[in-house]
Amino acid sequence: MSEDVKKAIFPAAGLGTRFLPATKASPKEMLPIVDKPMIQYGVEEALACDIQEFIIITGKHKRSIEDHFDYAFELEEKLKKSGKDKLLEEINRLNQIKLGYIRQGYALGLGHAILCAKPFVKDEPFAVILSDDIIPPGETLLLDMIKLYRKLKSPVLALEKVPLQEVKRYGVISGTKEWDSVFRINSLVEKPDPAQAPSSMAIIGRYILTPDIFDILAKAKPGKGGEVQLTDAINILLQKRPIYGYLFSGKRYDAGDKLGYLKATVDFALNNPDLSKAFKKYLFDVTRNMKRAK
Ligand code: G1P
Repeated sequence: MSEDVKKAIFPAAGLGTRFLPATKASPKEMLPIVDKPMIQYGVEEALACDIQEFIIITGKHKRSIEDHFDYAFELEEKLKKSGKDKLLEEINRLNQIKLGYIRQGYALGLGHAILCAKPFVKDEPFAVILSDDIIPPGETLLLDMIKLYRKLKSPVLALEKVPLQEVKRYGVISGTKEWDSVFRINSLVEKPDPAQAPSSMAIIGRYILTPDIFDILAKAKPGKGGEVQLTDAINILLQKRPIYGYLFSGKRYDAGDKLGYLKATVDFALNNPDLSKAFKKYLFDVTRNMKRAK
């Protein structure tokens, strides 16, 4: 048993309704940002934090996630023969990751998805990564949260200050500042109306949790939207132990939302050495034409 955070759960059984019809038969997690599917960014972020085991909670129409992280003999042979070594290396890297899959029969909510991972997590702390919250490589959010967990031995949630009118898209906390970016959480509420929100500090898709959440999730009743909410379970856990929030001030893209997805795509393309120059020129031309048309 590890005292440290070595396992990560990727809930990926949602229906992806905000991206329909694109997500009718394909997983939202496989939508690409430039040339990598969203879920791969999250997996690479966790690997960079020395997380070694991954469990993906899948559902209907999610087979391509498994294929993505599996061997692709024909493709590998072809790349080998055509001397595309760099690409081959990149493809091969994906097969080396220790990944397991648990199927969530019904999309009953994030809390239920986490409960499905109980047999895998056993008695260890673990990370939860929501792959539509994209944190660009180079940001150290997850690592900072793991360090905080090591120090406090308590669950840690990633927080971001969002405009008040956006709180209805997130779990929101009320908390007391402990030091710098660290808040002790007093209560949580899932997707409140802005008028009733306890603050504008939203939970973003990175959590470090402890296995005592499972007993609470097992007894949880459906909450907001008729789904078993992780936020509600954490609110109950709060009665038993301190829980902390880490206020992130770096870059994050809410790629579960179309506009956020487009912003991530544009920024990642601008930072891509093969695309950056031509793409910048294209954006420049588009902007100039828009100004002229005014
Ligand atoms: C989920 C959580 C919510 C959290 C959000 C972060 O909501 O339920 O508390 O703030 O992720 O992205 P979802 O985006 O699945 O509706």
